[in-house]
Amino acid sequence: VMQNRVKIGMFGYGCVGQGLHDVLLNSRGFRTDIKKICVKNKNKPRRIGAEHFTYEKEVILDDPEINLVVELINDADEAYSIVKESLMTGKNVVSANKRMLAKHLPELIEIQKQYGTSILYEASCCGCIPIIRNLEEYYDNEMLLSVKGIFNGSTNYILSKMYNDNSPYATVLKEAQELGYLEVDPSLDVDGLDARDKLAIITLHAFGLFLDPEEIFTYGISSISTFDLQYAHEKGLKIKLVPTVRKIDDSSIASYVIPQFIKQEHFLFNVENEYNGVIAEAAFSNKQFFYGRGAGGHPTGSAVLSDISANSYEYKYEYKKLFQKIETNYTRNIPIEIYYRYRNKEDLELMPFTDIRESYKSHDHNFVVGTLNLEDLYRLRPLLKDREVFLARTPDNGSTAEK
Ligand code: HSE
Repeated sequence: VMQNRVKIGMFGYGCVGQGLHDVLLNSRGFRTDIKKICVKNKNKPRRIGAEHFTYEKEVILDDPEINLVVELINDADEAYSIVKESLMTGKNVVSANKRMLAKHLPELIEIQKQYGTSILYEASCCGCIPIIRNLEEYYDNEMLLSVKGIFNGSTNYILSKMYNDNSPYATVLKEAQELGYLEVDPSLDVDGLDARDKLAIITLHAFGLFLDPEEIFTYGISSISTFDLQYAHEKGLKIKLVPTVRKIDDSSIASYVIPQFIKQEHFLFNVENEYNGVIAEAAFSNKQFFYGRGAGGHPTGSAVLSDISANSYEYKYEYKKLFQKIETNYTRNIPIEIYYRYRNKEDLELMPFTDIRESYKSHDHNFVVGTLNLEDLYRLRPLLKDREVFLARTPDNGSTAEK
């Protein structure tokens, strides 16, 4: 395929937008022009001249010369309307907006089919790790058993710094913010919602099933305490925020986002700071591990550049797994073993453990290690918010898709 000349209309000039700009300035042998950049705030100082910018989205959307829209804004609803209009008026799109994609992918897939346009979004998941392209192209026929890992850079940064340097939560949160790793609304990161959205996107490409993100049990790191980290230290374990999707039987998958204790021999043990790691396990290839920077302007800009280039060679996602329709059921009816740190008797009584393997009580800290049903955990999730509790999955063991 001959490379098509790309005229870009860009939305957003924040962390990723500026990162992409740097990456483009340094890329060789690839001719592309950013014709205009649409931004919201007229008064913000910018590092390039005012002539590059517009404040009206129509300047880009109505320009027939612009054949690619690169959408890198924060607002998911605004992004949705820009992306939709672009795809419906013959412009291809590259986007990094995981929140928007996790909400609207089924409709965007229909629109692509109907209008013959294409949206690529490698940068939406795990920074510069090319996981979507690999799921689409390499694993298109392999029987995948699970995809799991560390999909969020800022929380991994926070967990690493707290664990390795004993730094307090508030301090490392601020550091992560200054480094540009956190979302504009940091609760999306620390409550696990960003990782959950990425899991929904990855699940569609891995198993062909679109999950409403709300259906995924999600628990983040905002209530972690030094006691939990101390407990991990004493056992030679780390705590990581781990989104998982895995096959349960011939036609069903389960998924969840939950902090997990990680053993030293695990692939994820040495994934530190803003790095991400993805483990794909399949029936024949067995385990493959992808490792790279998961957040930050340059790594994410690099993934955007890769999509801009792929688009210029007319690459499109085919959503092969979606049309194969092998995994058709989503279930939460599975047992899950957790560490549950709590304060009061009522906190413990709340949880319908079917089995308790370990129990610890002291003056100010209590925990149990026990098993319950994921469905129960999902149902109780809203009630955990206002209690002084933390939960984490126990370490993987064995050599099944669990690990
Ligand atoms: N806030 C996101 C993260 C940015 O921390 O991973 C990259 O998607």
